[in-house]
Amino acid sequence: MDDIDEMEKSYLVSISSASSLDDLEKIRVKGLGKKGEVTSLMKSIGSMEETERRVRAPKLNFLKSRIIKEIEKKKTLITEENINERISKEWLDVSRPSRPSKMGKIHPISQVTDEVVEIFSDLGFSIAEGPQVESDWYNFDALNIPPEHPARQEFDTFYVNSSSDSESPPHVLRTHTSPVQIRHMEKKGGVPCRIIVPGKVFRSDYDQTHTPMFNQLEGLAIDKDLTMSHLKWTLEEFCRAFFEIGDIELRFRSSHFPFTEPSAEVDIRCSWEDNMLKLGQGDSWLEILGSGMVHPKVLKACNVDPNCYQGFAFGMGIDRLAMLKYGIPDLRSFFEGDVRWLEHYGFNPLEKPSIHSGLT
Ligand code: PHE
Repeated sequence: MDDIDEMEKSYLVSISSASSLDDLEKIRVKGLGKKGEVTSLMKSIGSMEETERRVRAPKLNFLKSRIIKEIEKKKTLITEENINERISKEWLDVSRPSRPSKMGKIHPISQVTDEVVEIFSDLGFSIAEGPQVESDWYNFDALNIPPEHPARQEFDTFYVNSSSDSESPPHVLRTHTSPVQIRHMEKKGGVPCRIIVPGKVFRSDYDQTHTPMFNQLEGLAIDKDLTMSHLKWTLEEFCRAFFEIGDIELRFRSSHFPFTEPSAEVDIRCSWEDNMLKLGQGDSWLEILGSGMVHPKVLKACNVDPNCYQGFAFGMGIDRLAMLKYGIPDLRSFFEGDVRWLEHYGFNPLEKPSIHSGLT
């Protein structure tokens, strides 16, 4: 065995034991690079004796092509192995069912607020807002409820502690959304207007149909020629759209609120069958809201001239509307934050009813 045979053996061994493409490249450079062992031997062919050249030249050529061939073979092998290894690590089963994803639900109060706002927007009303901690003036006095007025007692008001050196009456948690009527009308350009006020209100009361915090929707329309018939039409139109009952019947029952004159409570025709409430037909009436023509004293409190302007106002419980429309029996459950309840009564955020897609 001569030196070329030795060399061939050693190259074959190192090629077969190479474990990366880098190793292979090093082996190639070592043998066949510009200054490689095989290259230098081949360079010496020219200066060889004739007999020696005849033996060694073909052997060297063979060695060179053998090394190239073996390196190529091994390269293919290593590349395949690399791919297989990656495949085994990056294993992904695209046929697996996806993980169950939990989608939240829209709370019925948010849902009903959206519906109500949408209906009144369609009728030309815009939204107004006011603070939940109110002064005595906005919550009562300006609405024609002076301190000695019995209506103050009816409201079960929460009072907010004032600082000990304060002489002014304590603030209150607003007992209704009506103070926003005042805040809106006293603004520059406040009248004429058509506004609705959705918002939280507070009264110290707690049973199946009362919670210390609940949601109201106030409505106020002031202009030069608005009458009770506009109030009637607006409320009928609203109830028809909200309850989606074409022949809904409302009853305007004479009532009293200090801030409206005349005042009317509005009932909706209904029936009770097997403890199930049905709206639109039957011999019973269910009260749904309070309303009336804005009292001249209220207009005066906002520096609006009652000889020039008049209008109507109404107030309804959003929670109560939600209970009626979606058959939810206990008001307290709205505020208990029980996800199982929300799962049952909540609305799918991607299939929200609207007046365009149908409300239910
Ligand atoms: N503020 C009244 C209440 O909370 C409702 C109401 C609003 C009545 C506007 C008439 C006009 O009971």
